[in-house]
Amino acid sequence: MSLTKVKEGLAILEVPQKVLNHITEKNEVFYNPVMAISRDLTVLLLRVFVREKDRPIKVADPLTASAIRAIRIIKEVPNVEKVFINDLSEKALDFAKHNLEINRIDPSKVELYNETAEVFLLKTKYYDYIDIDPFGSPVDFLDAVAKSLAHKGVAGFTATDTAPLSATYPKTCLRRYFAKPIENEFYHEVGLRILIKKIAEVFFQYDIPIEVLFSYSYKHHFRVFVKRYRGAKRTDEVFKTSVGYLLYCHKCLYRTTLPFTDFRSLDLRCPFCGHVLDWAGPLWIGNLWNTSYVEEMAKETANLPVSEETKKLLKVVLQESQLQTVGFYTSSALGKAFKLPSLPSKRELFKKLKAVPTHFSGEGFRTPLSHKEVIEKVKKMVGF
Ligand SMILES: C[S@@+](CC[C@H](N)C(=O)[O-])C[C@H]1O[C@@H](n2cnc3c(N)ncnc32)[C@H](O)[C@@H]1O
Ligand SMILES: [Zn+2]
Repeated sequence: MSLTKVKEGLAILEVPQKVLNHITEKNEVFYNPVMAISRDLTVLLLRVFVREKDRPIKVADPLTASAIRAIRIIKEVPNVEKVFINDLSEKALDFAKHNLEINRIDPSKVELYNETAEVFLLKTKYYDYIDIDPFGSPVDFLDAVAKSLAHKGVAGFTATDTAPLSATYPKTCLRRYFAKPIENEFYHEVGLRILIKKIAEVFFQYDIPIEVLFSYSYKHHFRVFVKRYRGAKRTDEVFKTSVGYLLYCHKCLYRTTLPFTDFRSLDLRCPFCGHVLDWAGPLWIGNLWNTSYVEEMAKETANLPVSEETKKLLKVVLQESQLQTVGFYTSSALGKAFKLPSLPSKRELFKKLKAVPTHFSGEGFRTPLSHKEVIEKVKKMVGF
């Protein structure tokens, strides 16, 4: 079989050309160059994470496919003791072994397994870092991750089922994530927050509180990195402040959040225009980023051959993470809702609304101003 060489980060990879021509789960081994951004960000985050540890870290790559992620972690992250590599597909594992060899990975740095990911994790626990990178949703693996992640360990989850999470298939979202998505200008952010709620819910049931270190949406995937801590009391506190509902007005774009247990204060009338409010959730209403992680990750881009896309995303998130509102505005949604005769320039909007950009949408922005102030100022900007 003729193999094609690919370079990504500090790794080289050999995969059949047809795997690159047509990217599908049916290939004998899966490799998607578009997901380099996910691997870049994993490596950058782990380079920051290892600094917290005074010992080498133990890593799991339970859905390894070509082993690209494991190879990059070993080559690009210092102080990695060992990466435990697993895939259910024997064919994928053959490619993984071949790629470990051509990258000259020291055999003492890896252990290979051919199990279903949950069994593999529970057999080989505990880990400082676990990477869950499945086809579709990560829900199958949440329980095993919660049970095999070491105290103060980090887990990275990919979800490619963005259609249910983002309201294209709301029934699937309800069934799979036990949450209602919403169709609005920040539906992707809502989808990501629903995914995080689901992860939190599984961890919380074992008295494991979590913190979101980094998260994003890019093309067809969501990705989130969470750090775990311990204790029922701390879990209660995180639950109280970070899980709730979004209330949203489709008429005037008003938005607010409601803590999960705060139904007594529920009012389904929009305080701005009187229209009936829609809702989404339960979802994560806590932070989407740990700002010092984002800052350190951005600095680390100078030390590694990461893609331009990764640098671009980090640059925006660096600004975005300074203002962690739930939801953002877009000029086109404002224009449509208020039938504005024209749209203000991006420059003016950002200046007058003290706004920061968002990686979720090129025309989106987060602002610290109240809804009333936003609407008044935007109308004034276009002389309406
Ligand atoms: C999306 S690919 C992983 C891609 C890889 N992490 C990367 O960065 O390129 C998912 C892999 O999971 C494997 N897989 C699917 N279900 C599994 C399961 N239950 N347990 C273990 N591996 C599984 C598939 O064979 C496939 O190789
Ligand atoms: Zn309203």
